[in-house]
Amino acid sequence: MKRLSIIDIMAKKGKEPLVVLTAYTAPQARILDQHVDILLVGDSLGMVLYGMDSTLGVTTDLMIAHGAAVVRSSQKAMVVVDLPFGSYQASKEQAFLTASQILAQTGCNAVKLEGGQEMAETVEFLTKRGVPVMGHVGLKPQSVNAMGGYRTQGKNEAEVANILSDAKAIEQAGAFSIVIEGVVEEAARNITASLAIPTIGIGASPACDGQVLVTEDMLGLSGNYIPRFVKRYANLAQSTEEAVKEYAREVRARKFPDKDYCY
Ligand code: KIV
Repeated sequence: MKRLSIIDIMAKKGKEPLVVLTAYTAPQARILDQHVDILLVGDSLGMVLYGMDSTLGVTTDLMIAHGAAVVRSSQKAMVVVDLPFGSYQASKEQAFLTASQILAQTGCNAVKLEGGQEMAETVEFLTKRGVPVMGHVGLKPQSVNAMGGYRTQGKNEAEVANILSDAKAIEQAGAFSIVIEGVVEEAARNITASLAIPTIGIGASPACDGQVLVTEDMLGLSGNYIPRFVKRYANLAQSTEEAVKEYAREVRARKFPDKDYCY
């Protein structure tokens, strides 16, 4: 089966919404692969899988291990892997070394990096050297300290104009698509109408060309706090707990394993 390429993804703009979910592991990739256009190995895995407070502690080695698992376990969806904090901001050369390592060692199709006008030169350096790049503007979790927290972006005209300039700079630099996170609808609508590449929203309204969610959030697996923009499509924490309780009860009652499960 042929994987979706950046050409296929770009061709969907204006035709059909892009479906994107995060995937960090082999079993998750196997289930999601046939139903999404892009599997995003996001650095959110630091918080979701490893219990970190932010994405800042995620390393390139961690992204490579999870990226490779997702590529091995999927066939159809495009796989995009995040460049983690500190692995690309120092220089465009540093960005190329990290991106090429991730592409070579995972077999993924593209990388994603956060930033607007300040990262445009880096995005151009990468794309001109054969690295497909997905941009990420608006709320940038790797800049949580500089932004003073996870705040919705685009709340006044100046902020809307700035996010639009960021998105245009990243498109101009050669990105094939762009994530818009945590922005008001007006900003997302302006950006989506102004760009020729697809926009993928998270907490950024239906005005975007596609949507992405953290899979654990939409499956009810990520604890009690869920952001307002997340719709829970299942409550797997509850069904997991029910299954585990039943297993524990049967083991304690010496009901499991019965003869059906013995050699
Ligand atoms: O790290 C991540 O999962 C992301 C998405 C939330 C867009 O960047």
